[in-house]
Amino acid sequence: MKEIFAVDVGATGTKAALVDLEKGTLTTERIKYATPENAGPTDLVPIIKQLLADLNYTEGIIGIGFPSIIKNGVCRSATNINKTFIGQDLNRLFTQSLGHPCYCVNDADAAGMAELHYGNIQNASGTVLMLTLGTGIGSALFRKGVLLPNVELGLLRYKKGITEEYASNGARKRKELSWEDWGTELNAVLAYYEKIVSPDLIILGGGVSKKLEKYKKYLETTVPIVPAKHLNAAGVIGAAYYANTVANKS
Ligand code: BGC
Repeated sequence: MKEIFAVDVGATGTKAALVDLEKGTLTTERIKYATPENAGPTDLVPIIKQLLADLNYTEGIIGIGFPSIIKNGVCRSATNINKTFIGQDLNRLFTQSLGHPCYCVNDADAAGMAELHYGNIQNASGTVLMLTLGTGIGSALFRKGVLLPNVELGLLRYKKGITEEYASNGARKRKELSWEDWGTELNAVLAYYEKIVSPDLIILGGGVSKKLEKYKKYLETTVPIVPAKHLNAAGVIGAAYYANTVANKS
């Protein structure tokens, strides 16, 4: 069995586990530490080091799901993390500071890859939109099983801001919205997303995906909506998959 340490860096929590790459499952518990507000590299590196120690991972590659646009390892946006990350080569930064070869990928793209390879997108033939509803809204778009990386629907302009400020789980908590009010807002945002990418299927991930029964009745999308098979673990599993795939190619 091949196991990889993978971490899902979130704006509020950073989670890690070891992942069995054949089955696409966690082989350890998923350990989580709070991410400090506006976290920068000097905040994140010690947290990931602690996670490595907790899981006793001393050798091998690391997959990192990160909440920003990542092009060839370089961070190109920072909505809910420290702006100093922008322009930094995250693969190099984490490889040097953690002492393991690190491979970074957008967190929603990672979650989508987990669903594609081990979960609910397997055999999906058309256009599949995976959304992660957390502090922000992450999006991953697949056409016939192929990922178009770094699609950022959460950053689309909407009302007085961007969609994630209204329909993320972070917005629900911050504004203390009822399931009905938040579900209605999410419904409007999903209708907007549908117009832009015309998906055949929508998969919801992030912590709130396990509570879909509470707000599904407010969602009137023209296409089916399903929760991610791996729920909130999809980001960790996909980051491991990504790291292994890239490491094997290089
Ligand atoms: C970022 C995305 C990220 C999403 C979920 C957004 O604010 O722009 O890159 O995938 O949050 O973390």
